[in-house]
Amino acid sequence: MKRFIFSIFLVLTTINVAVAATGDIEAGKGKVALCAGCHGANGISASEMYPNLAGQHADYIVKQLKAFKNGTDRNNPLMSPMAAGLSEQDMADIGAYYNSLPHTPADASSAEGDSSIAAVPVVKYVPDAVAGKSLYELGDINRAIGACIGCHGKDGNSEVLIYPNLANQHPEYIVKQLHNFKEQKNRSNAAMYNFAGQMTDEEILDIAAYLADTKALANVKPKKVVVAVITEEVIAGEKKAGTCVACHGIAGNAVIPMYPKLAGQNAEYIVKQLAEFKNGKRNNAIMAGMAAALSEQDMIELAAYFAAQKPLPGNGKGSDLGSKIYFGGKVNHVNQAITACVACHGATGKGMAKAGFPNLANQSVEYITSQLKQFKSGERANDRASMMRNISMKLSENDIDELAQFIATLK
Ligand code: HEC
Ligand code: HEC
Ligand code: HEC
Ligand code: HEC
Repeated sequence: MKRFIFSIFLVLTTINVAVAATGDIEAGKGKVALCAGCHGANGISASEMYPNLAGQHADYIVKQLKAFKNGTDRNNPLMSPMAAGLSEQDMADIGAYYNSLPHTPADASSAEGDSSIAAVPVVKYVPDAVAGKSLYELGDINRAIGACIGCHGKDGNSEVLIYPNLANQHPEYIVKQLHNFKEQKNRSNAAMYNFAGQMTDEEILDIAAYLADTKALANVKPKKVVVAVITEEVIAGEKKAGTCVACHGIAGNAVIPMYPKLAGQNAEYIVKQLAEFKNGKRNNAIMAGMAAALSEQDMIELAAYFAAQKPLPGNGKGSDLGSKIYFGGKVNHVNQAITACVACHGATGKGMAKAGFPNLANQSVEYITSQLKQFKSGERANDRASMMRNISMKLSENDIDELAQFIATLK
């Protein structure tokens, strides 16, 4: 786990927002007297309209203070004057100080002020924290809502420094911010505009209820992790995979890079592709012929077999620009913004099996390039809600080349 976090960190340092100054915790402590009135003496605020800052990532705090100061990216009448007087050094010190404070409700209970989590406002709708957790962890592929967990981390504790922690935040504050993103006011972030824009008011309340106390759901069964196990389906699939070897290689490890690797691909995704080659929704003459003869049961068994195979590494050279777009998306202009690939394909490219997001790890440069070009031109159009077409449309040929070089290094 440590190594995983470390490697993400390495990648991200190259794309991190430039934090010019290094923060000093002690100095920061001396600069927050004014802030305590609203954000609480220990960064845990007593009022539900003021966000908790304790334990928040320093980089995120600095970014928000700059946004309040410049007034265009984030607009709030209370915070703009507060940020106006802060220098870069002040912001860095304040970020470091708040980051150093404990942020779990248990730790904070000893803090001054009322640290209890305020109840969700009285509305007719009773929020469903379990539904919130499910949307948080899986997203919704039909509406192109990326899984929140991909950026904001398990239970709202994000491992990526430019994405805010959401754990233990006041539900009212979460609701207010999601409405800001949904209505595209007061804040500016393309990915959040897209996701919140698709959410219903009830779902916003569900997510807030879940984040208010993620521990309360400890006894909810965790989502099943798909592990490669040898089932009857896998054995049956192996027998049917003989004809696929010519192009997709032994055990789904294609040696000719223009053919996709199927080894380790998510089973749900494989089934969807085979069904769509067969019904013509995904257009490919070779695969249409291959899929024509397959029954639904054949598809399920073939998918189980290939999903259980171990992929060999991809052939990418790596790319700084590719990694930057993969983790950070691209923001030229709000309507031109590209959602970070990590939101749906995950930090290591594995996608999300249950949600239907494909695994990109270990795939070849040539195949990734060809698919991004096909989505860009609309030749491939079987992505739900046009989610890959909308993204690829805004990628330049160079972006595509660099992304492919990066993605094909993911394992
Ligand atoms: C008068 C009350 C008030 C004071 C004083 C105040 N804030 Fe805030 N702060 C707010 C409110 C309200 C918000 C939420 C704004 C919004 O809805 O976007 C906020 C938001 C923030 C955020 C963004 C948090 C997030 O999760 O996105 C940061 C960082 C922050 N304040 C830092 C500070 C600092 C540092 C000070 C002292 C220099 C300070 N605030 C003083 C009311 C206050
Ligand atoms: C691609 C990464 C990504 C995904 C996926 C994502 N977010 Fe965000 N989210 C962000 C970023 C970046 C910000 C900070 C934006 C800014 O700088 O104002 C943010 C901010 C937020 C905030 C405001 C936090 C604060 O302290 O003010 C909330 C609430 C939020 N996201 C909820 C969600 C929910 C719910 C989902 C899933 C439906 C989600 N996010 C999915 C990247 C993401
Ligand atoms: C003659 C070569 C050939 C054979 C044999 C073949 N395929 Fe394919 N397959 C391809 C090509 C080419 C593509 C990429 C199509 C495209 O560019 O959209 C592909 C794509 C796929 C995909 C989509 C992969 C992805 O990542 O989206 C699946 C799933 C698949 N094939 C399964 C099979 C199965 C199962 C068999 C055996 C029953 C098989 N193929 C036999 C050439 C072949
Ligand atoms: C909102 C979610 C989402 C985001 C963000 C996203 N993707 Fe995808 N991607 C998908 C889905 C869903 C599919 C599968 C479409 C289908 O069902 O055929 C896909 C398919 C792909 C494929 C084809 C995989 C294969 O095996 O054929 C590639 C390559 C790809 N994405 C690359 C990217 C890159 C690069 C980015 C960032 C620039 C990105 N994606 C961002 C959801 C997403």
